[in-house]
Amino acid sequence: MEKKPTASPFFALSGVRTSFGDKAVLRGVDLTIPSGKTTVILGGSGAGKSVLLKHLNGLIRPDVGSVSVNGEEIQGMAEKELLTLRKRIGILFQDGALFDSMSVGENVAFPLLEQGWKESAEIDAAVTAALELVGLPGEKAKMPANLSGGMRKRASLARAMIFHPECLLCDEPTAGLDPILSETISHLIRSLVRERETTAVVVTHDLGAMRIMADHVIFLREGTVRFAGDLEAIEASEDEKIREFLSATGGGG
Ligand SMILES: Nc1ncnc2c1ncn2[C@@H]1O[C@H](COP(=O)(O)OP(=O)(O)OP(=O)(O)O)[C@@H](O)[C@H]1O
Ligand SMILES: [Mg+2]
Repeated sequence: MEKKPTASPFFALSGVRTSFGDKAVLRGVDLTIPSGKTTVILGGSGAGKSVLLKHLNGLIRPDVGSVSVNGEEIQGMAEKELLTLRKRIGILFQDGALFDSMSVGENVAFPLLEQGWKESAEIDAAVTAALELVGLPGEKAKMPANLSGGMRKRASLARAMIFHPECLLCDEPTAGLDPILSETISHLIRSLVRERETTAVVVTHDLGAMRIMADHVIFLREGTVRFAGDLEAIEASEDEKIREFLSATGGGG
């Protein structure tokens, strides 16, 4: 049976609808994301997972509906408040989104500069600490093109964690990695968020990663929530679309 999250939710979405041109991507999303837990968002390609994730830190605003963080509505926030919000909510973008022309250190420092940090010694110390946290010590000067896939994910994770956020959003953190590396990165994220009781929202296609990280699972289909519950409940689900998704993406493994 679904275990109801006990603490008050970190995020609550209600009636969220978002379109791009005449394409309705989110078609009435209602969901809550529990505090201090990891929620995994599953769904087929184009289901709206990345779009949904970007609603959680105000990068995309809904056409209709409400998105709140710790009970506070995002819609009404001015740009300045959104900037503060993004310090509390780190994001690892799909494919890592490192700037190729900037070194690893400059990439990781980017959110600090966005927040107006100027002291180079402070920036340097924060970047060093973030790279150590993700197991990339001493790689500051490397260019992203010279990193392996796993190292790129770690660098992106360091950038997302630079402010020790209350909440970490990760979009496909294991995409493109071999199964062993995918497991390593999943465990790394798991331990980073557990240690700090960080709220995490992870979008993934990777069922192995889901099984390592998820406390709570949401299945998105055609812009609405088709399922919300725990890991056991989704594995046991008899919903045809969920079964299809789990078997197509290697649900037996
Ligand atoms: N900025 C945008 N402008 C126009 N259309 C967009 C924009 N962002 C997303 N879309 C469209 O919204 C739909 C959902 O996109 P989204 O990136 O959320 O899918 P997804 O579930 O993350 O898929 P994938 O698993 O392939 O990453 C797609 O049809 C996409 O083309
Ligand atoms: Mg996506």
